[in-house]
Amino acid sequence: MTTEHPVQSVRAALVWARAQLDASASPALDAEVLLAHVMQQSRTYLHTWPERTLSSAEHAHFLELTRARAAGTPIAHLLGSREFWSLELLVNDSTLIPRPDTEVLVEKILQLGLPEGARVLDLGTGTGAIALALKSEHPDWQLTAVDQSAAAVELAKTNAERLQLECEILQSDWFSALAATPAADFDCIVANPPYIAADDPHLQQGDVRFEPVTALVASDNGFADLQHIITTARRYLKAGGWLVLEHGWQQAAGCRELLQASGYEAVASGTDYANLERMSFGQWCDTSKVTSEKGGS
Ligand SMILES: C[S@@+](CC[C@H](N)C(=O)[O-])C[C@H]1O[C@@H](n2cnc3c(N)ncnc32)[C@H](O)[C@@H]1O
Repeated sequence: MTTEHPVQSVRAALVWARAQLDASASPALDAEVLLAHVMQQSRTYLHTWPERTLSSAEHAHFLELTRARAAGTPIAHLLGSREFWSLELLVNDSTLIPRPDTEVLVEKILQLGLPEGARVLDLGTGTGAIALALKSEHPDWQLTAVDQSAAAVELAKTNAERLQLECEILQSDWFSALAATPAADFDCIVANPPYIAADDPHLQQGDVRFEPVTALVASDNGFADLQHIITTARRYLKAGGWLVLEHGWQQAAGCRELLQASGYEAVASGTDYANLERMSFGQWCDTSKVTSEKGGS
């Protein structure tokens, strides 16, 4: 498949692309997803009509996307969107591409038995994934979502508008913008913060190479933001409110220790779809232990 011979069948285009993408973990799938996107058809269509020829515009677009993918660009960045909790979210390079495993946090929160009209805070919302998934399940809940990145806040607002899911979205260094918000008392605070250690070799592999370091990396061996959130969230939780955190697969014991040392109760961890402990949570019951003064980040 070259630019000089743009008349190509679907079958030939896929054969060519699979060969270009042999460094990918899933060359056949990548090729099909990209071609389906270019032709604005389903992957089933490609299998049903393998002799259909590509227009020269489709050919040029497919060539461009396949070459970008071969250079490592994440599929989600090439398509401009990623599905999370059956919501189609726009994505860009300002924040993390939502991961399927983050859906276990949404599942956990839905099982907590939060009250009607619950106030829920999503810290480091990125695309808005967690907040918007929760709002889609519980339209009566009041969602607040914050992110330090102005571009991520813009993206999350666009996603909320497109999906018609009401959510207060603020630019904030963790809790800092909430100090001025009246009644910053939440039934649940959820966060998928940066938690990768700066020297983790995985940062040089796969999609994360194209995601901002500010969404991924935390100091103190990846624990700095987790620790800050665990300590500070106590001031923003109602008595009986829950803190639910995503973390790395080797950080569960450390997070449980931090939660227990900070006075949370019912502390436990949960597993992701690969059965790895990637989420920990605790309930804040004793408001007398923390100053009621709000402020700081
Ligand atoms: C791992 S990403 C999670 C994004 C999204 N919640 C998800 O699960 O797909 C972490 C997010 O935290 C944001 N972030 C990093 N430091 C922050 C801070 N100090 N205050 C608020 N947000 C921060 C990043 O911009 C990024 O969007």
